[in-house]
Amino acid sequence: MQRKILVTSALPYANGSIHLGHLVEYIQTDIWVRFQKMRGHECHYVCADDAHGTPIMLRAQNEGITPEQLIENVSKEHQADFAEFKINFDNFYSTHSSENKALASQIYLANRDAGHIATRTISQAYDPEKEMFLPDRFIKGECPKCGAADQYGDNCEACGATYDPTELKNPISAVSGATPITKDSEHHFFKLGDFEQNLKSWTQGGHLQAEVSHKLNEWFESGLQDWDISRDAPYFGFEIPDAPNKFFYVWLDAPIGYLASFKNYCDRSGTDFDEFMKPDSTTEMIHFIGKDIIYFHALFWPAMLQGAGFRLPNSIFAHGFLTVDGKKMSKSRGTFIKARTYLDHLNPEYLRYYFAAKLGSGIDDIDLNLEDFQSRINSDLVGKVVNIASRCAGFISKRFDGKLADTLSEQALFDDFIAQADTIADKMEKREFGHAMRDIMALADKANQYIDEMKPWALAKEQGKDQQVHDICTMGINLFRVLIAYLKPVLPTTATEAEAFLNIEPLQWNAIATPLLNHNISKFKPLMTRIESDKIEAIQHASKETMTTQKPAPTKPDTTTIEPILPEISFDDFAKIDLRIAKIVNAEHVEGADKLLKLTLDIGLAEKQVFAGIKSAYSPEDLIGKQTVMVANLAPRKMRFGLSEGMVLAAGPGGKDLFILNPDAGAQAGMRVK
Ligand code: MSP
Ligand code: ZN
Repeated sequence: MQRKILVTSALPYANGSIHLGHLVEYIQTDIWVRFQKMRGHECHYVCADDAHGTPIMLRAQNEGITPEQLIENVSKEHQADFAEFKINFDNFYSTHSSENKALASQIYLANRDAGHIATRTISQAYDPEKEMFLPDRFIKGECPKCGAADQYGDNCEACGATYDPTELKNPISAVSGATPITKDSEHHFFKLGDFEQNLKSWTQGGHLQAEVSHKLNEWFESGLQDWDISRDAPYFGFEIPDAPNKFFYVWLDAPIGYLASFKNYCDRSGTDFDEFMKPDSTTEMIHFIGKDIIYFHALFWPAMLQGAGFRLPNSIFAHGFLTVDGKKMSKSRGTFIKARTYLDHLNPEYLRYYFAAKLGSGIDDIDLNLEDFQSRINSDLVGKVVNIASRCAGFISKRFDGKLADTLSEQALFDDFIAQADTIADKMEKREFGHAMRDIMALADKANQYIDEMKPWALAKEQGKDQQVHDICTMGINLFRVLIAYLKPVLPTTATEAEAFLNIEPLQWNAIATPLLNHNISKFKPLMTRIESDKIEAIQHASKETMTTQKPAPTKPDTTTIEPILPEISFDDFAKIDLRIAKIVNAEHVEGADKLLKLTLDIGLAEKQVFAGIKSAYSPEDLIGKQTVMVANLAPRKMRFGLSEGMVLAAGPGGKDLFILNPDAGAQAGMRVK
């Protein structure tokens, strides 16, 4: 039966660039949607920029533009990034739209009329200079627990304490630097507790992953609080219909933005919005989100919808967070990688495949290890899948006029391949993409083994073996076709190119079992190339660069470009560092590394080999014979290019402006630096 499915990904904030962490979600959703479409279902994938809120308002002010201009610029940037990663939204819209304003009002007023909105006066931090209430993140001060300076209003990065912004010592407004005062104002609240019984049964009703349902039980135990849904002017958002100068909190109209984007799409495409939204709808509504925003989607959102008489979501699929090399993405480590930085250097389908190979149906974090990424792509996609076609295509075009044989010589092998269609589909449906990729690669191994055993290249040199060569290569091409069909939701561009090579209509799931026989194929062009190490390094390098090119916000000093001071060390710790004058006896380029120079350093008692990231600033010939200062007793570290036995001291913002310390030539190599 054909399903009708509305699918969403969380709406990215309109105040920053898309990075690889975001892409876990958009790639996961896009693969699932493409899979559904390939299966013949009616599936609509909508998204939007999340355009409202204080950070967006302030960023626009800092840039001297209107919030409307800012969100317009960011929307263009986001859409360009998504398009290149082949995220195939049926509509990408904005929460700052007339549809969203109308729907937010409708949902709010229906809830108000049903008695689910309360008002009461609360007191909050207020910036008397800027004349605005301050969200927690915009108040800074000293941690009440450990005294660390420059901490945000909600938690301390030094000791991990969480607290109320009123507890901060010597608080200042991060917007103006003024000392905040406390001020009263009336706020509107959504009475989440009204929905407790329904939410309890809904959250245990199979709409959520098991681990998410468990988490929600804890939240129920600690009690459902009223939710503050209003903000005072100045605020970039929608004015509340019955409360002049008060605005909906950004998270009130953000999920409604899913519906607004869909409404906008329905009006353009002639799709029936009401059929999808009515409470007894037989259509499906599915939200893909990150695990950090479960509370909003599994509690507030179904409650708001129910209070307004709309249908509830069928499923909320949460995923984990992306780490890079096992750690949170970090600007200083060069692992905070923007979508655009990646696109400048590598094929987006590599990342799609890598995430697919790592993704499951749970909420575990997923790790991008750049070395593993490189070898995985090179071995799976280039080495296994594409290789099958490139090993067979040449014979077909040169010897058989581009035409495949008219029978399958190894029906059983082909049947093996198509027998997996249902299990692979089942895994894709359940978002067990990693398991599905493993099955597909096991089949790719089988196809390569078959070709290895049959050795068409050897038979091709023998007399009278033409038929065999034709049969083997026809088999190879057919196995390749099945694999490409399975991979199509993950690798849409490669699949399109493969379809052109195979000279076939766009592959649908139900066409997989029909082999391609007595059929002309086109000339083969390599579909993918290996990832070389310099590309990975270039991405890391450029990701570090972005932090020095970021524009500082004029209202506060930009501390993001300066590395924080590390925890205090004792004099003894300092004394342990053996700094020596070193003579650079040799310097050379390192094959495959775009930042590193290999230095041979003479420190009198020994010669040390050091890989230094100074290639952007020095040529090897400028260094030979010069002196520098090195840490002589650093534990040796195995790098991809060899052993590094110390470090040279250098300072500077990077690029050409990087200075290694070059003391008086009068110093003698090996002298200790005091
Ligand atoms: N604007 C809200 C969502 C509103 S939905 C009605 C928001 N925006 S966000 O830009 O911060 O994040 C968008 C999505 O990307 C969220 O689902 C979030 O979990 C996900 N991710 C952001 N950083 C991520 C990682 N590092 N790893 C994986 N997903 C990440 O939240
Ligand atoms: Zn602290």
